[in-house]
Amino acid sequence: MVESNYRFIKACFGEEVDATPIWIMRQAGRYLKEYRAIRKEVDFLTLCKTPELAAEVTIQPIDILGVDAAILFSDILLIVEAMGLPLQFNPGPVLEETITDIPSVDRLGLPDPEETMPFVMETIRVLRRELDGRVPVIGFSGAPFTLASYMIEGGSSSNFLKVKTLIFQHPDVWHRLMKKVTAAVIEYLKAQIEAGAQAVQLFDSWGGSLSPKDYRENALPYSKEIFSALSGSGVPSIHFVQGNPAILPLVASAGSDVVGVDWRIEIGKARDNIGRDIPVQGNLDPCALFLPPERIEERAAEIIEQAGPRGHIFNLGHGILPPTPVENAKALVAAVHKLSSK
Ligand code: CP3
Repeated sequence: MVESNYRFIKACFGEEVDATPIWIMRQAGRYLKEYRAIRKEVDFLTLCKTPELAAEVTIQPIDILGVDAAILFSDILLIVEAMGLPLQFNPGPVLEETITDIPSVDRLGLPDPEETMPFVMETIRVLRRELDGRVPVIGFSGAPFTLASYMIEGGSSSNFLKVKTLIFQHPDVWHRLMKKVTAAVIEYLKAQIEAGAQAVQLFDSWGGSLSPKDYRENALPYSKEIFSALSGSGVPSIHFVQGNPAILPLVASAGSDVVGVDWRIEIGKARDNIGRDIPVQGNLDPCALFLPPERIEERAAEIIEQAGPRGHIFNLGHGILPPTPVENAKALVAAVHKLSSK
């Protein structure tokens, strides 16, 4: 464990804090006019690949909202491109080449992150310099299940038919793909930590589409391997699987320091289900940010009360929505700090 004075890092390790830390998934994004101004000049991928600009948009929500951590501005799919599948955004992600069989898995590369994604590590280095200790920097990766799903579907999907067809009917292809993606994610997260990331989050946005049994057999072992590979790094890890509270105990068993919770379960119940000693992150419904500030505060108070004073990082249950009024996001951050101050 690394000694730290950041309330975010302390909360990740379940230590006592002066107030509950908060950051917001997708906190750098289109709901901020300062972000839109930069996006008018450059497309999304160019923004991700230009360290000075990526660092600038990463810092915007620190200045504007007063959140307690900065999350690297990037996208979970850059590693898919680094492994050899060309990526476009239109506005959602589109992969023209997809994974269908063993030869297509074998054509994927195992990228050296510093060679194939130098801009990510450089953004982290710029951030550490520019933030100069104000707040810690969170690095991240997509989890193997979500990354492999994009590689198979070629984009977003409503029912994951192609992914589940491969898992159910061609498990040899699935597990060969997952092994390769897992190895790539481990190298990628280690490179981010080496560059200065002070915490890392694994985003499994689509993991909740699986039944508990299928999650246990086809996704969990790979995420577990990642947390075990990072366990000696000293930086806290957060595991966020979206969409399925029934699998939270399995998600917790992957071995991260913190478990992310979406809004589909009460956070107190989530803590009871996974064990009160495991720190949690969440879990306000992003749509609650469209309420007037006093009602946002009421909802924040319920979450803070249920989660308790230790081992809780406040966040939304998923990414902030582009039409969110920025004043309401500010009000949430202020309310969380006020309500939880010791
Ligand atoms: O949280 C942050 O502020 C850090 C930056 C970040 C982005 N994407 C920026 C982004 C992070 C951590 C992500 C992760 C990500 N990307 C996930 C996992 C989290 C989740 O939401 O479940 C996923 C599934 C993706 C893939 C992705 N990227 C999609 C589906 C889209 C389109 C979404 C949309 O609303 O249009 C993106 C684009 C994207 N990633 C944007 C941002 C700010 C919007 C880009 C723009 O047009 O400016």
